[in-house]
Amino acid sequence: MEFYADVASLQSAMADHRRAGRSIGFCPTMGALHQGHLSLIEASRKENDITICSIYVNPTQFNDPEDLQKYPRELDRDRDMLAEAGCDGLFFPSDEMMYPKPAVMAMQFGPLENVMEGVHRAGHFNGVGLVVAKLLHLVGPTRAYFGQKDLQQFAVIRQMVEDLMFPVDLVCVPIVRESDGLAMSSRNARLSPVARKTAAQLYAFLQEAREQLLQGRSVMSVGQWVRAQLGEHRDINLEYFEIVHSHTLQSISKMNSSEPTSLCIAAWVGGVRLIDNLTV
Ligand code: PAF
Repeated sequence: MEFYADVASLQSAMADHRRAGRSIGFCPTMGALHQGHLSLIEASRKENDITICSIYVNPTQFNDPEDLQKYPRELDRDRDMLAEAGCDGLFFPSDEMMYPKPAVMAMQFGPLENVMEGVHRAGHFNGVGLVVAKLLHLVGPTRAYFGQKDLQQFAVIRQMVEDLMFPVDLVCVPIVRESDGLAMSSRNARLSPVARKTAAQLYAFLQEAREQLLQGRSVMSVGQWVRAQLGEHRDINLEYFEIVHSHTLQSISKMNSSEPTSLCIAAWVGGVRLIDNLTV
C-alpha cells in the first residue's frame, strides 16, 4: 500500500493512474476503521483497478469541540487494516494541508439539511461538503464510496456532486451490523458494556416500525408509537425518529410502494450519540 502524507505526492500518483487508464475507487473516512469501512474498500476493489482511502478527522464538520477531541484516532491500526483489506493507497493529510486558511465559502443544502442531522448539528453538512469537495478534487476518482448509515450525508453529497458537476459516480454501500443488529460505527467503542447492550435496541425499534408499516399501520401512528416508546425509555434519549423519502429526506405522510422510504433515528445512549436507518 502506498502512503500519501501530502497533496503533491497524492495528485502525482493519481495522475499517473488516470494516464494509464486505470479506474480509481475512493473511500473517504475519518479513521477508527471497522468492518463498515472495510465493506467500502471491498466494494471499491470489485469495481475499480485502484482503491484509495483517506483518513482525515475533519474539524469543520464537528459542531461540538468535545466530540472532535474525543473522536478516536488510531492511524497505525487503521493502516494495518487497510493493507490487509487490499487497499492500494492511503491519503492522511494534516489540518494545515486541508485548511491552509480557514474556508470562507459555505455550502448550503436547503431542504436536504433542514431536517434530522442538519437540525441537530448546525453547520455539520457545510463541513462535510467542504471536505468531500476538496478530497474529490485532490483524488479525482472514477467512483466514490460512502456508507448508508449516514443516509443524509449521502443525499447531501449526491446533491453537491450533481450541482457542481463532479465527474464521479457515487456508490452507497449498505450498513454493516454487529450480530445483535447495532450499526457499526467508530463511536460504538465509546459505549460502556451496559450502554452497548442498550444501543442494540435502536435497530430493534427500527425493525418493529418497519414491520408495522408493512402490515398497513399508518405512518403517523408508527411514528407516534416509536416516539412514545423511546420517550419513556430510561436509558435511551431520543433526538429524532423520522419516516422519510430516502432521497429527498422529507417526511412522508403515507406509504407509497413506488417511492423509496427510510426510517431514520438518532439517540443518545450512555453519553454517545448514535444514528441508524432502515429502508422499508
Ligand atoms: O462519513 C465520514 O466518515 C465523513 O463524514 C467523511 C465523508 C469522511 C467526510 O469527513
